[in-house]
Amino acid sequence: MARVILGVTGSVAAVRTPALCAALRASGHELRVVATEPSLHFFDPAALGPPDPAGGLLFRDADEWPPGGYARGDPVLHIVFRQWAELLIVAPLDANTLAKFAIGLSDNFLTCLFRAWDFARPVVLAPAMNTLMWQSPVTLRHLRQLLADRAEDAVPEGWGLDDAADVFARHAPRLVLVPPQAKRLACGDVGVGAMAEVVTLAETVRRWAEAETP
Ligand SMILES: Cc1cc2nc3c(=O)[nH]c(=O)nc-3n(C[C@H](O)[C@H](O)[C@H](O)COP(=O)(O)O)c2cc1C
Repeated sequence: MARVILGVTGSVAAVRTPALCAALRASGHELRVVATEPSLHFFDPAALGPPDPAGGLLFRDADEWPPGGYARGDPVLHIVFRQWAELLIVAPLDANTLAKFAIGLSDNFLTCLFRAWDFARPVVLAPAMNTLMWQSPVTLRHLRQLLADRAEDAVPEGWGLDDAADVFARHAPRLVLVPPQAKRLACGDVGVGAMAEVVTLAETVRRWAEAETP
């Protein structure tokens, strides 16, 4: 099993973080959670279970900026985490952090981690947002940018949201897009945008961990 970082962003689907955390730990992965500040609105850190005695469990922006200032030799946490992790899963990935990933903004722990990531190691992205946010041309623009940056060969033009996961799998196999599903969303709208099921995400991580780690 693998050393896994679960990135969590400020989608209402972050209510599933305790369940996803439990599923990943039950699979035997060593787990660290890097949460954006908005994501902490949606779950109680205490519900994640006991911290790993060696390495803690939940990390947030303040952990990158300990009081007392920087002294030469102090760890740079997003680099330390990148060196430690064998796989990154961002679930839920909200529209805001998708946009930041696509254009390279690095203004919090999670976006710094993504920017510093070694893309020879798998990244699983599980977007979750309102249907109109998902269907906005901005979403497709950002997904296309992410794929263009990591594609291993020429990507044919003309693909859209419906075949995005397949196109990612064909051209950037280690950038794994787990598309949102259609259902009644927390906001009451009905349509595509809900995060994939926890079981699907845990199974995706299990498959990649098995394939990529000795
Ligand atoms: C109650 C509530 C629910 C939200 N749900 C979502 C969501 O499902 N998807 C999304 O993209 N943004 C959602 N947002 C907006 C994000 O929380 C907002 O863009 C935030 O700045 C994201 O910050 P982060 O990407 O750093 O976590 C929601 C906001 C609120 C107040």
